[in-house]
Amino acid sequence: MWDDEGESYLDFMAGLAVCNLGHVPERVKARIQEQLEQLWHVSNLFHIPIQEEFAEKLVTISCTDLVFFCNSGAEANEAAIKCARRYHQRVLGNNRYEIITFEQSFHGRTMATLTATGQEKVKDGFLPLPEGFVHARFNDIQSVRNSITNKTAAVMLELVQGESGVHLAEPKFVFELTKLCKEEGVLMIVDEVQTGIGRTGSLFAYEQYGIEPDIITLAKGLASGLPIGAMLGKEKLQEAFSAGSHASTFGGSPLPMAAGLATIETLLEDGLAKQAQQTGAYALDKLRKELKACPAIRAVRGLGLLIGIEFAEPVAPIIQKLHQNGLLVLAGGTHVIRFMPSLYVTCDEIDQAIDILNKVLKERDGSASGTPI
Ligand SMILES: Cc1ncc(COP(=O)(O)O)c(C=O)c1O
Repeated sequence: MWDDEGESYLDFMAGLAVCNLGHVPERVKARIQEQLEQLWHVSNLFHIPIQEEFAEKLVTISCTDLVFFCNSGAEANEAAIKCARRYHQRVLGNNRYEIITFEQSFHGRTMATLTATGQEKVKDGFLPLPEGFVHARFNDIQSVRNSITNKTAAVMLELVQGESGVHLAEPKFVFELTKLCKEEGVLMIVDEVQTGIGRTGSLFAYEQYGIEPDIITLAKGLASGLPIGAMLGKEKLQEAFSAGSHASTFGGSPLPMAAGLATIETLLEDGLAKQAQQTGAYALDKLRKELKACPAIRAVRGLGLLIGIEFAEPVAPIIQKLHQNGLLVLAGGTHVIRFMPSLYVTCDEIDQAIDILNKVLKERDGSASGTPI
């Protein structure tokens, strides 16, 4: 990226994990331009062929059968929560409504999704919160067991908690959680708003855990920067969202549909998920080696190109210095720096980013305490 004075930056934040194909990717741009010459908006009361084409594509590449389009990650999660409740209340005819989510999770900022979010900071000043959300401990199956009641409709989780600092779900936990949900008749919602679209080294993170969620939510990278959200679900949920039960005026509009379709086609054609797996592994390994001796760093973890570097101190001043030195990165929580570059990032660019990080850490005044990784 370049700023208005011509200074260049390595962009390792990609929007907020949105520009997975880089900024203004050519094939997506061409598709949007083509659509610009046609219709921009059509009401969902009418059949929109490009919406159907994109939905077909999404169900083909995922374990799901149905798609609901909206405009953001929060809206996709809101749809998932509503769909889970309605499935139980209208299709199965029980009275389940509670959603179990996890401490440190992030699911959005609408009233329902900030309540679902397992962090107090997003709730501050917004009381009263809607009912029906319970928080269990992440990676603790007993805590989920203790939280399930005859009111539980669904469990919702991120397989990598991105916003709170790149915390990975343990495979054993996810396996047991999936089993538990099946046994208890509880739906499993996986929030792939940040982990989806190749970010973690597979098209969707759930593939790496060998599970098939009932619902997946997507947004961020799905249309390379145009506002979009999607809730994908298994066929059994079809009746839950019958006509008129849920809708969005702009959801599924032709422009983001064109962008989304071209984004997924590009991702597949260029084998970007696989590439992200390889470059992500390279970055993780190199960061661990290079930062091993740095006492300020507590841990380096990640999946694909969603990488977190945890510090023993708040990272805001370090991030500012990195920006001044030409590396754009994001915080995750207060103590973690996230590396989330475009999926086209090269090993050479990763080396450059790590060199900048090393330089900034060496130049820093004072010393921070912490256990070396
Ligand atoms: C996992 C996750 N879910 C939901 C959201 C909310 O998405 P949006 O900001 O598009 O509403 C985010 C945003 O960071 C996210 O990371």
